[in-house]
Amino acid sequence: MFRIARQLVAALAILVGVLALGTTAASAHATLESSSPADGQSVLTSPSEIRITFSEAVTTISGGLSVLDADGKTIDTGNSEIVDGRTLVAPISESLSDGTYVATYRVLSADGHPVSGSLLFGVGEGALDRSALPSSNGDRLWEIIGGISRFIIYLAALVAAGVAFFLAFIHDRAEDRWRIVPFVRIGSILALFSAIGIVMSQAALLTGKGAGAVTDSTVLRDVLNQNLGWSLALLMIGLAAVHLSTDIAKKMVSQSLALSGGLAVTVSFAVWGHATELSPTAISLAANAIHATAAALWLGGLVGLVMVLSLRAPETVRSTAGIIGRFSLVAFWSVIALTIAGLTLTITGSDASLNSILTTTWGQLILAKIGLTLIVVLIAAWNRRKLVPSLITPTEDTSELAVRWATLLRTIRAEAVLLVAVIALTAIVVNVPPARTAVVATTDRVDTTQRVDTGTVQLSVDPAIVGPNTVAVRYADETGQPVNVANSMSIEFSQPSAGLEPITRQVPASEPGVFVIQGNELSIPGTWTITIAVRTGDFTEQRTSFEVSVRR
Ligand code: HEM
Repeated sequence: MFRIARQLVAALAILVGVLALGTTAASAHATLESSSPADGQSVLTSPSEIRITFSEAVTTISGGLSVLDADGKTIDTGNSEIVDGRTLVAPISESLSDGTYVATYRVLSADGHPVSGSLLFGVGEGALDRSALPSSNGDRLWEIIGGISRFIIYLAALVAAGVAFFLAFIHDRAEDRWRIVPFVRIGSILALFSAIGIVMSQAALLTGKGAGAVTDSTVLRDVLNQNLGWSLALLMIGLAAVHLSTDIAKKMVSQSLALSGGLAVTVSFAVWGHATELSPTAISLAANAIHATAAALWLGGLVGLVMVLSLRAPETVRSTAGIIGRFSLVAFWSVIALTIAGLTLTITGSDASLNSILTTTWGQLILAKIGLTLIVVLIAAWNRRKLVPSLITPTEDTSELAVRWATLLRTIRAEAVLLVAVIALTAIVVNVPPARTAVVATTDRVDTTQRVDTGTVQLSVDPAIVGPNTVAVRYADETGQPVNVANSMSIEFSQPSAGLEPITRQVPASEPGVFVIQGNELSIPGTWTITIAVRTGDFTEQRTSFEVSVRR
């Protein structure tokens, strides 16, 4: 059993790496909603500013937006700022010559995740040079470092807090406690080093300047000025308290330090991350803190008990029975609290939508967590109902006693290893968008622009997946400003290759130069021809056709 559990953890470690490698800007939590110029749009004269609107509130440090031309030369963008909480605006102080440009943004999502990406726009006539887009912005390594640091910090801090509780409340204060104390001390120190890893990865992801970013005091101040700063401060205070609890001989003082320090550690996790942005916020934050506290008690108890059973002989079963009984009680209530709080977080993270749990990476990882937890619970239940009672029943048969003792040690070791696997999954879960955000972000949205007599016409089809779609048409002048071409237009949807007759719709302008229609016209997959016709005069009509690929 122990070997299987170890192999599972190894497989999960590989999974962490693979998933971290697969993480792209799309896994960030605020998504790009619109921009001016739009991604892929060409404007006829140099824009005076770049505006990027995100799906939720963002903040920015160290610039936020940079613009390069197709040769990689930096364009002077002055200071970018956030307006309306979620729109990044950067002035362009020089006149851009005709050509292709790449705007790269780096902002911080409200839940503390760095979001970065690039968009392409053109000035003047001519096709856009798609090769100007960077193939990778070098963030992947920092995402992996951030993920691994998160895993170590969870594991080390939960073990430190949980084992400190075990020593203060469950252990019998016998001499072998000194062989268990190192788990608290080494755990605290490891968590401290991992915190440095998290700060470095946040600084690198937010600035794009790699490891050097952390040496810049402005960047460091900005990174720690977020919820992350509060979370790490609380974590450090908590770790110091649990560390101290193992040095103090007075039982009451040691217990108070272990309890308050442990709570500070587990609450620190809730202060930074998804729970701060899930609603109802108070319920999500409370559930998160309870979940992490129960995880620490369970994991720390298992580690403590593994040590006790390894250090003591089966013949000590009478004196050790008290420890086993107290652990069993704490573990029982911890599992109940952990499950209720975990399911509450699952509901707030998915808007209680079973579909979003089944179809998103976040939801599938949570299901995997539930599956693994269930295996641990079944082992624990068997231990509690069968093995422990038989172990503490007096018997003269010492070899039978030794077998039961060894079986208990083996099974709780396997439980502990499986919980480490659950924590590895958790380190991935907290880095992917929660199901409720991810579902909204599932789109193959198409944005395409063409030049017309009045300037440009941009067509957006969202999500460009068979079924209901929003089709938006925007007429703009040479600078990208809206042009009031007509009060209404007609739009034709056809798929000549499938022999479909054109479906025509009349669409009134929702605002000057903007026409929006929502419907089920894009009913089969394939390449659709969308033709827009506007009457620009009594006898003149401007027709523009686009080819749009729609998937199933
Ligand atoms: C019934 C089983 C479980 C369920 C349904 C569950 C669910 C969840 C959910 C939904 C989250 C929030 C993820 C996010 O922020 O995006 C979470 C976080 C977490 N879970 Fe679990 N979980 C379960 C079992 C466990 C176990 C067995 C452990 C460890 C022993 C654990 C440790 C954690 C930790 C450390 C966090 C992160 C807390 C934070 O950073 O705020 N979970 N869990």
